[in-house]
Amino acid sequence: MSRDGEGLVGGGMSAGAGSGGPEGLAASGRPCDDAGQRRAPRVVRVEASRSYDVVIGRGLLDEAGERARRAAGGALDGSCLVVSDDNVGPLYAGRVRDALSRAGLSPSYLELPAGEPTKCMDGFARVVGAAADAGLTRAGLVVALGGGVVGDLAGFAAASYMRGCHLVQMATSLLAMVDSSVGGKTAIDLPQGKNLVGAFYQPDLVLCDLDALGTLPPEFISDGTGEVVKYGVMGDPELFDWLSEPLPGQWERVVERCVSIKRDVVQADEREAGERKRLNLGHTVGHAIEKLSGFSVPHGHAVAAGTSIMARACASLGLCAADVPGRIDDVLRAHGLPTGCRYAAADLYEAALSDKKRVGDSVDVVLIHAIGFTEVRRVGLDGLRDLIERGVAEDGGSL
Ligand SMILES: NC(=O)c1ccc[n+]([C@@H]2O[C@H](COP(=O)([O-])OP(=O)(O)OC[C@H]3O[C@@H](n4cnc5c(N)ncnc54)[C@H](O)[C@@H]3O)[C@@H](O)[C@H]2O)c1
Repeated sequence: MSRDGEGLVGGGMSAGAGSGGPEGLAASGRPCDDAGQRRAPRVVRVEASRSYDVVIGRGLLDEAGERARRAAGGALDGSCLVVSDDNVGPLYAGRVRDALSRAGLSPSYLELPAGEPTKCMDGFARVVGAAADAGLTRAGLVVALGGGVVGDLAGFAAASYMRGCHLVQMATSLLAMVDSSVGGKTAIDLPQGKNLVGAFYQPDLVLCDLDALGTLPPEFISDGTGEVVKYGVMGDPELFDWLSEPLPGQWERVVERCVSIKRDVVQADEREAGERKRLNLGHTVGHAIEKLSGFSVPHGHAVAAGTSIMARACASLGLCAADVPGRIDDVLRAHGLPTGCRYAAADLYEAALSDKKRVGDSVDVVLIHAIGFTEVRRVGLDGLRDLIERGVAEDGGSL
């Protein structure tokens, strides 16, 4: 998508079209879905620099080996490293390792402490060190079993080890399923900032086993829902409407729809030159909130508050209808998410200035014209300050 001098990028988008639909695989032994029926998983095909399937369904942890082998098209030599954290590993690593072994792979295993601090240079050194100890070759496989932290870290290790080996993302958190496992962004943090070192590296396969959401703590369900709301506001009014119902009864279609939206955006702009920036709705202010809180506010909560603030700013400027902020806030509250923050506009603005997406004296912000219709616009720093001031003016201060 082209950009003009003012940096107008994108517009409304339709989502969900073109996903692979129900997969035709045999589903023997597969657990029941939300409606109590046996169903084959859904598949969303991503056509990027490396094309791959995102498989969404139940019982997939037990099919990891067979599916990884098929996705790699016979290229795997059997060397394999499963990386997980100490919450997810004890729950699921045994099943995944068994599934890999049944497919003739020889999985080694590395379990790291859960949480963002693991996504660092030392964590990276431990993963590539474990890969070397396990004798992984370029035809070897890294399996990232966990949420976005494990996915980003093990993904970056897979991108770097021997200049790139095979990678399967096994997403176990909602955020990882709807966002971080898809699209090929991998990264680690530095003391100077989040995600400062990384690579675009598409996986061979993404598996989203919806059964894993059954053990995800409620605060992380809520956090991942912040990104789901973002997708609805960004480009899908129908998804936004689904959010008025509880999510656990509709995981399959919600995850599939979010993955389809991200797929469409990634295919249009794999390396974030334009269209992909639309995924940053609510993120400029969201990152500022995360920073001001010393990263004690989780990402999805910060994005929710950032989206709410941006909606109020856009309504105040007459860019969207006056009822749009209220509709967004109702959905956020229904899912236990904040609709604002306790920080002053001036502090948010200062914190937003250090956002790594800033370009000189301007920044690309995502403006809301209606639910499902957004626009990326490059604004000067005065414009950014004005947006933040308008957005927090009537802020409930709920974060
Ligand atoms: N690469 C991208 O495009 C992208 C996009 C958005 C966010 N991210 C990154 O993702 C990370 C956040 O991801 P996250 O929210 O998944 O965090 P996380 O990986 O820390 O997972 C959240 C918590 O849930 C636990 N957990 C995960 N799955 C579980 C399960 N099924 N059962 C029980 N516990 C489970 C984890 O152990 C952890 O304690 C951040 O580092 C962020 O920068 C990356």
